Amino acid sequence: MVGISLGSLKKLGRWVSGLSVLTRTVGALVIVVLIAASAWGLSVSKAQANLLRTDPDLESTDPASMKFATPRGEAVFKKDCAVCHGAQGKGDVTRGVPDLADNDWLYGVGAASDIETTVLYGIRAPNRKTWNLADMPAFARKIPYAREPTIPPLTPGDINDVIAFLDSQSGQKVDAEAATRGGAIFSNRGGCYDCHGDGHGDSAIGGPNLVDNIWLFGGTQKQKFDSIAYGRAGYCPAWVTRLKPGKIREVALYVYSLSHQSPAKGPSAQ
Ligand code: HEC
Ligand code: HEC
Repeated sequence: MVGISLGSLKKLGRWVSGLSVLTRTVGALVIVVLIAASAWGLSVSKAQANLLRTDPDLESTDPASMKFATPRGEAVFKKDCAVCHGAQGKGDVTRGVPDLADNDWLYGVGAASDIETTVLYGIRAPNRKTWNLADMPAFARKIPYAREPTIPPLTPGDINDVIAFLDSQSGQKVDAEAATRGGAIFSNRGGCYDCHGDGHGDSAIGGPNLVDNIWLFGGTQKQKFDSIAYGRAGYCPAWVTRLKPGKIREVALYVYSLSHQSPAKGPSAQ
């Protein structure tokens, strides 16, 4: 009450007693509702501030944090992410949008901190910290990969051989000779090994696993051929300049929850 003089309090009193009972009751109710709403607002922003104070990986194993964050993150997801990733986060192979619910990750191991990093800076987005270490070369072009012009092109026959090799690695019956030729291309001439490791991918540069039967751009013969012949370079926006840090944390924890129904399980690489 500092700064309010006795005189002005008396005036306020006279003014209030001049009002009808109904007006006073309604006024009191409005004040109670306003106080409750601002208290709720304060407690939400306090919970959000708390959420930002700790490590996302700790929060992802804390049921209370997850209970607060996931419904709020889901609202962010529906508004800003579902347009590409789908309402359930299941992605779309015809557009090269990954399934965020399958616990198979292009970048990192699916820890909440990995997810948050991708959400913050995006993939091949116009941001200094974005994931942009490698693209899929277009092996049908004369110079398949501008960043590494020494990588030579492949013929359609070579490409079919390398697909036979990948199919054999994921347990399918294939023409053994074609697979052998394809294996040599994979680890030598084609340089596939550099970015896809032994076929299980490289999550430090977003080189997908090619032998797990999970496909970013589809797993039909034609889709695989197109990936190898014409190249791929998917884009996910950077959200650091578009969403507040609290919302980014919430949506990252929500995405984490899609593949970790029981928070105690922790992340797993695939
Ligand atoms: C310079 C690194 C690099 C090299 C070399 C490379 N790839 Fe890739 N490849 C990638 C990246 C990165 C992606 C994912 C692109 C994206 O996310 O848009 C990819 C995607 C693919 C895909 C699509 C995967 C999916 O899940 O849909 C196939 C198939 C593939 N590569 C096969 C090959 C083969 C076969 C070779 C060798 C002939 C090869 N790649 C060489 C980096 C590379
Ligand atoms: C314009 C379409 C688009 C929008 C909008 C979008 N994404 Fe993406 N996102 C993609 C594509 C495409 C990829 C895969 C990029 C690649 O090929 O590497 C991706 C990749 C990701 C990945 C990496 C998955 C992995 O396996 O490592 C995460 C996490 C992700 N998005 C989260 C989000 C979230 C959260 C939002 C909303 C705040 C969002 N995205 C909005 C298109 C989009």
